Amino acid sequence: MRSLRLLLTALVLSAGTLGQRARRIAIVGGGPAGAASAYFARHELQQHNTPADIHVFERLPRLGGRAHVGTVEYANRTLYFEQGASMFIGKNRHLVDLARSFNLTLCPHPCTLHPADKRPTDDDMVVDAGMLGAYGIWDPLPGPVSGPGRWVVRRHGDQWLRDMLRALWRYGGLGDLRRVRRQTREAVDQFMQSYDQFSRPHDGVYASWDAYLADRPALQQSLYYRAAELYSHGATRISQRFLREVVSLATRVNYMQDVDSISAVGAHISMAAESDEAYSVAGGNHQVFDSMLGHSAEVHLGKEVVAVERNGTGYRLVTTDGVEDGVFDTVIIAAPLPLTKIRLPEGLEDLKSAVKAEYVRMHVTFVIGTLRDDLFPSDTLRLPRLVVTPYGTTLPFNCLSILACLDGTQQCGRPGSLALFKLFSHAPIDLPQVFAHVQWHRRNTWHAYPRLEPRNGNKYGGGEGDESGAFHLPRKSLPPIVLDRMDDAGVFYVNGMETVFSTMESQTVAARHVVRLALFGENFPS
Ligand SMILES: Cc1cc2nc3c(=O)[nH]c(=O)nc-3n(C[C@H](O)[C@H](O)[C@H](O)COP(=O)(O)OP(=O)(O)OC[C@H]3O[C@@H](n4cnc5c(N)ncnc54)[C@H](O)[C@@H]3O)c2cc1C
Ligand SMILES: *[C@@H]1O[C@H](CO)[C@@H](O)[C@H](O)[C@H]1NC(C)=O
Ligand SMILES: *[C@@H]1O[C@H](CO)[C@@H](O)[C@H](O)[C@H]1NC(C)=O
Ligand SMILES: *[C@@H]1O[C@H](CO)[C@@H](O)[C@H](O)[C@H]1NC(C)=O
Repeated sequence: MRSLRLLLTALVLSAGTLGQRARRIAIVGGGPAGAASAYFARHELQQHNTPADIHVFERLPRLGGRAHVGTVEYANRTLYFEQGASMFIGKNRHLVDLARSFNLTLCPHPCTLHPADKRPTDDDMVVDAGMLGAYGIWDPLPGPVSGPGRWVVRRHGDQWLRDMLRALWRYGGLGDLRRVRRQTREAVDQFMQSYDQFSRPHDGVYASWDAYLADRPALQQSLYYRAAELYSHGATRISQRFLREVVSLATRVNYMQDVDSISAVGAHISMAAESDEAYSVAGGNHQVFDSMLGHSAEVHLGKEVVAVERNGTGYRLVTTDGVEDGVFDTVIIAAPLPLTKIRLPEGLEDLKSAVKAEYVRMHVTFVIGTLRDDLFPSDTLRLPRLVVTPYGTTLPFNCLSILACLDGTQQCGRPGSLALFKLFSHAPIDLPQVFAHVQWHRRNTWHAYPRLEPRNGNKYGGGEGDESGAFHLPRKSLPPIVLDRMDDAGVFYVNGMETVFSTMESQTVAARHVVRLALFGENFPS
């Protein structure tokens, strides 16, 4: 009886597409890229009236990958905080539109709200840190925290005019800001062309990231320069001070790198993040990816893929539990290959060096406590929301931000007041060096994102300022998308895109490109 009902259901489900075999797709990884691969594959195939059988394999017992929420109880309230990827900007169309379509709450970053909260409702004690000034550059002179440091720059937030006048004076007008903004806008606009391409049914298919970038010259060129080089020559030259205090601040906060090592693309993306409205999803960004997967795939949690093998006309997956049932037409790897132990089909050993990328090892520390009051000059009445150490400084941290004030509005930002803090650092934080009192803390370490270096390494170091010369050098290819192909089947790789830059949004965009290529090939039917 039961099997008859199943059979009938199957017949009804396949009625519209009778005779067509379901496309079997395996996706490795349940982070932003894996969720988007499943979601967009489901959509594309639906539009072509092709049935799909989509499976997602995730090593961890949870979805979201580097989008991973944490919680802590304080004063009868649950505070939510992002342990990894925390924010996205209003221009990030996939994340913004999808969050809205799933009825999730977009919350100004940083956000400690519960998923059901619709807007910050400050109770008596827990106060949103949004009232504080934007940022300050704090120099921990003279040694690793042995006396009060010095404010190099401080934005007060509540004194907008004073902040602006000071900035105008400090950076000699608005010229540098304009030059940087123009570069940022060009790169971001070219990235955003992807959305228009997706809206055309036959567009947005690239066989490689190199082909993708060839259509986006501002991004492509910026990938072969360090930020410091781009901004030291010709028409894009800006002052060293603006470079180190504004551009490097953004790259330090977003990618843990200074302007003299990060690629110019990394600087553009960091500047975009710092100059647009930033949001998080109340209760955790991972909910966007959970919801994308909930509608589109069968999810297998706690299953680590250890090998992809050719099998007849398709592929079999081997996980830590053994060989998975069935043969897949398409395998999409949506995790950083250099960090996994996945064995690829025979003959693909050379891919190891092609997909190589060094991931930034970083520490994220959360603390409920009070800061040492001897860190800051004694006339510091209120701290800014974000405290960044200067260019080239990594101790005691790269940056420290206040996520929520826990002593009420009056005390919010006062150096000795209780707050929920987040710190980014290259080495584990030595808590007593920074905090007078710690009530609670949590430490995370991540392989956060690839080091965003210019693709050709240091070849342009100490150049003569002849930018055009740089482009005559051979360009090192980006990691491949197509790892293996047999007739209609293939193995595809999303995370090579991360070596250009790494964000949740760009990984969903990369996944959508890869899905189109995997399902329809380069000769996308129009
Ligand atoms: C501290 C930190 C801060 C960040 N801040 C931001 C930010 O503010 N904004 C932003 O947009 N981005 C930010 N990022 C970057 C962002 O997290 C990444 O760009 C994004 O998560 C990449 O998505 P992904 O799906 O490609 O990879 P991941 O998120 O890493 O997901 C890959 C998934 O694959 C799984 N997996 C790996 N190997 C296997 C295997 N063999 N079998 C099965 N499953 C496997 C992993 O467990 C993981 O769940 C930050 C990252 C970190 C660490
Ligand atoms: C938490 O809730 C308990 C029980 O409702 C109450 O007695 C206590 O005062 C609350 N604590 C705070 C800090 O609000
Ligand atoms: C979102 O909310 C609207 C209105 O309340 C509702 O019609 C819709 O079904 C909800 N969508 C989801 C995905 O929950
Ligand atoms: C396909 O995989 C199955 C199960 O591992 C195995 O028995 C079979 O021999 C394989 N076939 C080919 C052609 O590799």
